[in-house]
Amino acid sequence: MKRAVAPPRVVKVEDLRRVAQRRVPRVVFDYLDGGSDGEVTLRENCRAFEQVTFRPRHAVAVPTCDLRTRVLGLDLALPFLLAPVGYSRVMHPDGECGAARVAGKAGTGYILSTLSGHRLEDVKAASTGPVCFQLYLVGGRKVAEGTVARARAAGCAALAVTIDTAVAGLRERDVRNGMVELLGGSAFSKLPYISQVLTRPRWLLDFLLDGGVPPMANVVLSDGKPLPLIDVGAALAAAAVTWQDLRWLRQAWPGPIVVKGVLTAEDARRAVDEGAAAVVVSNHGGRQLDCVSATLRALPEVVAAVGDKTEVLMDGGIRRGSDIVKAICLGARAVLIGRAYAYGLAAAGEAGVTRAIQILIADLERTLRLLGCSSIRELDRSYVELPVEWTKRSSQASA
Ligand SMILES: Cc1cc2nc3c(=O)[nH]c(=O)nc-3n(C[C@H](O)[C@H](O)[C@H](O)COP(=O)(O)O)c2cc1C
Repeated sequence: MKRAVAPPRVVKVEDLRRVAQRRVPRVVFDYLDGGSDGEVTLRENCRAFEQVTFRPRHAVAVPTCDLRTRVLGLDLALPFLLAPVGYSRVMHPDGECGAARVAGKAGTGYILSTLSGHRLEDVKAASTGPVCFQLYLVGGRKVAEGTVARARAAGCAALAVTIDTAVAGLRERDVRNGMVELLGGSAFSKLPYISQVLTRPRWLLDFLLDGGVPPMANVVLSDGKPLPLIDVGAALAAAAVTWQDLRWLRQAWPGPIVVKGVLTAEDARRAVDEGAAAVVVSNHGGRQLDCVSATLRALPEVVAAVGDKTEVLMDGGIRRGSDIVKAICLGARAVLIGRAYAYGLAAAGEAGVTRAIQILIADLERTLRLLGCSSIRELDRSYVELPVEWTKRSSQASA
């Protein structure tokens, strides 16, 4: 195990966050760590997990723990997949290929973001596990058609369509850190922000040896060139996904479609009507519309609405294996982890992602044993207790 991420320095995911903060420049760390506006939802995502308490069954022998689950017809060794995280290659040169490789070794899936620096074919080849492609319509339908055809030819297992990004959320930290200027501005406009990069010489060396700012290898424009990674915010603003696009995608992509970014029963039912094979209860890790509810709180409503018709996944705020257990008790088939592995990637590349997954697996096994439950598939609502005010939300939604 790489020393930077070994115990006692790194015992939990939060420790990886601290190592990442020390390795990468502030502009990169804040992009990864931050949320939109007042970061209310970002905080709530994590706080919601703290509000749910366990109801263990003690004096039960649990000699082995079965963490396996099945998502979209895929057998996974773990009840979590790696969520799409844009700009991963800027965090560490291992980037998307490294994260996918580690996911495959652990027996789980990786979801590749449209906003990625490595080619999807290379990411697919790097992993022995399933790789799904997350789609934004940057560049329009024509560009997306090309990407979808490539994803199909490469053997991607599913398409995840993110519906919560009509425009990019305002990440105030990114503006303050001069993210747009550093990525694509003139030398003059970079000047006020450059010191944060110069104080991280090891990251800078890795970044320069990797070729600097990577173009978006999976958004190939009509001139045959990849979209430059300059102001993706502007590109996203012109690329809102609608339900009509979903209908069109059903023609372009014969495999399973996952709708990511559902927070209400209404959107969940609509996604099912449009043919979604799974929905992800997600608020984009608190990075889009601020002050939407924590995803763990939205999960029961979505499960009640469509849980018998489609697979319900969730993400947002997962930092411990016990969080994963709570989400599954509330009806999630599996979860996606975002920052939990991306902190590891930013801290130490593949070694950091491996460490994040190791920590979560150990947490999961320990939590199951302490709960008196031997298998992820046996978890249900009876293992947790919710705060009283949470039950009001479901009755409001069904009223
Ligand atoms: C740095 C970063 C970049 C992200 N990029 C994307 C993206 O390109 N596409 C997408 O659908 N979601 C993206 N997300 C959202 C994640 O897929 C996931 O929904 C979120 O991270 C879950 O919350 P968590 O980080 O608290 O686990 C990103 C999240 C982070 C932290």
